[in-house]
Amino acid sequence: MSRITVRAMASVALVLGGIGIGTVGSSDAEPKAPEKFMTFCVPCHGPAGKGDGPAAAALNPKPRNFTDGKYMNARTDAQLTNVIKNGSAAEQLSPLMASYGSMLNNQEIKDVVGYIRSLAVPKYQPKK
Ligand code: HEC
Repeated sequence: MSRITVRAMASVALVLGGIGIGTVGSSDAEPKAPEKFMTFCVPCHGPAGKGDGPAAAALNPKPRNFTDGKYMNARTDAQLTNVIKNGSAAEQLSPLMASYGSMLNNQEIKDVVGYIRSLAVPKYQPKK
């Protein structure tokens, strides 16, 4: 079985089973995703944040690939926070992503933004 098939099956199992939340997708090399990311965001954004979750196939445009540093690093924390809090339409993107402001508090959103930042290649360098 290819690695991609195994990964896809793992993410489907995660969504269907809801077991092992917070552990899948993390290893010594990768930072551990906040539990909220694994719960709310993985179905679309995928366990590694590549925009390849099980629900992504049906979406156009695709969920953002957080490992695409070229795009992601140009986005400000304020923009990412706004999308998570108020939905993608709040940043003039497609309306496909709902708002999570009622499900995540400000600290949880901050943690999720930090996690998303940690996935970027090349690495995200915060502006001083
Ligand atoms: C229903 C699927 C879906 C879910 C669930 C979802 N997203 Fe998204 N997300 C999208 C799509 C689609 C886009 C791209 C919108 C576009 O390009 O117009 C997006 C874009 C984004 C962006 C990019 C903003 C930018 O500046 O380009 C961020 C950040 C983001 N999502 C974070 C999250 C987080 C954090 C969660 C969980 C709390 C989450 N998303 C849950 C579908 C989803």
